[in-house]
Amino acid sequence: MFAGKKILVGVTGGIAAYKVAEVISRLRKLHAEVHVAMTKSATEFIAPLTLQSLSANPVHVELFDEPKLWNVEHIALAKHIDVVVVAPATANILTKMAIGLADDFLSTVLLATRAPIFVAPAMNHAMYHHPATQANLALLKDRGIQAIGPDTGFQACGTEGDGRMSEPVEIVESLARFFAGVEWLKGKRALVTAGGTQEPLDPVRYLGNRSSGRMGYAIAQVLQEAGAETILVSAPTDLPTPFGVTKLSVQTALEMYDAVLARFHEVDVVVMAAAVADYRPAVQAEQKIKKNGSNRTLELVPNPDILAQLGRMKTSQILIGFAAETENLLANAQLKMQRKNVNLIVANDVTKPGAGFGSPTNIVSFLFPDGRRIDLPQMNKLEVGRHLVRELAGLFGMDIKE
Ligand code: PMT
Repeated sequence: MFAGKKILVGVTGGIAAYKVAEVISRLRKLHAEVHVAMTKSATEFIAPLTLQSLSANPVHVELFDEPKLWNVEHIALAKHIDVVVVAPATANILTKMAIGLADDFLSTVLLATRAPIFVAPAMNHAMYHHPATQANLALLKDRGIQAIGPDTGFQACGTEGDGRMSEPVEIVESLARFFAGVEWLKGKRALVTAGGTQEPLDPVRYLGNRSSGRMGYAIAQVLQEAGAETILVSAPTDLPTPFGVTKLSVQTALEMYDAVLARFHEVDVVVMAAAVADYRPAVQAEQKIKKNGSNRTLELVPNPDILAQLGRMKTSQILIGFAAETENLLANAQLKMQRKNVNLIVANDVTKPGAGFGSPTNIVSFLFPDGRRIDLPQMNKLEVGRHLVRELAGLFGMDIKE
């Protein structure tokens, strides 16, 4: 599907610039015509000669170089290409794109072209979460620019967090989907739950759990990217709402139950990634409970099992549940799959390092009612979500072989 496609790879100055060599190499192997424009800072991270050799085309850096291919080169290139992918896309280039600044070859082409643009943001997580970067990204997405990633994980600055450039294979896959026109879940409506419910004891305390919401938010993001109209029913988290996703905030299991059931008949798939409290305090004190020095006993009453209820109500909907286990992972997950009548259960052993609560990564197995099982290695939660989307497309009867 890449044969003859004219792709401009814009490279900006971040450590992830070295990974773009693989993007270019993969695109060339798939018979794309690849052009490269680098910012001056990018040339500090990777030599233009490397990218020239891999792309088999001259690399553009300076706006006023001798023309290499056409006259008024940046305009000619802007018209020539079918798609642009900026990888890595630094906070700086995102800002320039947002305000329309054209002060070097790449930013000028980005302003001049009418070809679709993809960006693969890559930066330190604090820079990524800065309101300025988030506002720029939101503005660019509003204009139709598509973001690939970023992923979460170890960063070159020594910290962990969001802001790692997506892997080259994912960047190429995104372009492949674009050229194939494949949005697997276009026309589908999805509902995802995320985070840990909070069950109030009094106005200042609650019973909660360790869920950060990352798993559910990642799934909502990839479902949306795959074309599904996505609702995220979220218990309290610190996470930004994925672009384009409709978020409904809840606190307790009962609120989540009401929010999910109210929308169940409107959706084609529900993914229950939330950690829902099985019990809540029998009484919620109206005032802060005072200490009195003696032991206290807390009476708990069961919460409804949302997923089991959906399992009883489902007609054509696909139900995906999670099983958070600390022992007998597969056997317990299997039982939950049957008891809750789901089409797929994602089993995670939440005691494993790099899996479960709070971690940017997870280690999961997908279990299906027909006995099929897929064991995935440790990977970041967006990648888990992408694997899940593929399986979901399969459950909808689509041919998911690429
Ligand atoms: O949020 P993160 O920090 O990223 O962590 C991710 C995660 C560990 C929370 C996630 O991967 C996960 O395992 N989510 C499910 C947690 C859970 O409650 O598992 P469970 O085995 O207790 O419940 C089984 C399924 O029933 C789940 O899909 C759950 O959402 C659902 N359930 C549970 C209880 C209840 N009252 N109603 C429900 O719908």
